[in-house]
Amino acid sequence: MKYTITLLPGDGIGPEVSGAAVRIVEATGVEIEWECCLAGIDAVDAGMETLPESTLDSVRKNKVALKGPITTPVGKGFRSVNVGLRKALETYVSLRPVRSWKGLKTRHDDVDLVVFRENTEGLYAGREHEVVPGVVEALKIITADASRRIAEYAFEYARWTGRSKITAVHKASVMKLSDGLFLDMCREVARRYPFITYEEQPIDKVAMQIVLDPHRFDVLLMENLYGDIMSDLCSGLTGGLGVAPGANIGDDCAVFEAVHGSAPDIAGQNKANPIALTISAAMMLRHIGERAAARRIESGIERVLVAGEVRTGDMGGRASTTEITDAIIAAMPSPEEVAE
Ligand code: NAI
Repeated sequence: MKYTITLLPGDGIGPEVSGAAVRIVEATGVEIEWECCLAGIDAVDAGMETLPESTLDSVRKNKVALKGPITTPVGKGFRSVNVGLRKALETYVSLRPVRSWKGLKTRHDDVDLVVFRENTEGLYAGREHEVVPGVVEALKIITADASRRIAEYAFEYARWTGRSKITAVHKASVMKLSDGLFLDMCREVARRYPFITYEEQPIDKVAMQIVLDPHRFDVLLMENLYGDIMSDLCSGLTGGLGVAPGANIGDDCAVFEAVHGSAPDIAGQNKANPIALTISAAMMLRHIGERAAARRIESGIERVLVAGEVRTGDMGGRASTTEITDAIIAAMPSPEEVAE
């Protein structure tokens, strides 16, 4: 079977890491026709909108996309293409698995949790205005529908994957109405899953506890901004942004992308770690049913990390993006080795 998948290479380190991920996916032999599309500054340079309709149409048609990071100007300039993409495609679930890799030395071993971040509203609704000079208001939008659907996804995911506990993360002591509504919806959904332990914890307490002992958490469920911050924090528990994958999932489409951004400080230098986007690509392969190929990629990564000879700078080594990509391809087990 040949798949058609939209590829958004992104900018900054995007083309380097997406080029690496595509090479590794192709090395599995899964046949994919990549429909390459532009967004962000590259689209503007090509005389298009920041988020061209043709790019959205491609993802809507193919239902699946692999995406590199896209730069957002800070404070001025165009609004985030990443946020725009999630809203336009209604990919309301941000799923970010956080797991330890053998061979990567971190403070804690055997971390295995999942962060669910609501992807379409909260402070990312982008509703900001100046009330009077010197006073700006940003609206945090929380709706019952969006809160319920992310909670439903998280509970269903926990059920499929055999996870036993969900922690709703909030600051309802201060944001009584908005975070209060989010929690109401989580509780409503939790009642339908009596076999999954449900608890609620304030974000500040979770931030401290997770650094001390990540093993006490299983699935973390939260609104947009908390999820953004907690996913970077969690990536730090397991080796950093260079190995933190993610997926944005909706009822119609799924876009697979790493947690990290476009890393302008190392862009164009063949230094970026392609593992985060490559694990995201393995999640994509699993999503389309190519489970064996996904396992081969993950084993290849694990073997390279365990051997410890080829590492990019963020993992304490000196290897280039190209070298680690070659090493992962060479280390990938054969299809027979991962046969079920
Ligand atoms: P960043 O994630 O790009 O970089 C933070 C630090 O991590 C930098 O020191 C960078 O060199 C390092 N890093 C990130 N990914 C790495 C990798 N694969 N290998 C080795 N080192 C890596 O975060 P930053 O600097 O805050 O954002 C840069 C731009 O990316 C901004 O315009 C931001 O809006 C955008 N961004 C885009 C995202 C997306 O497309 N989904 C997500 C996060 C940020």
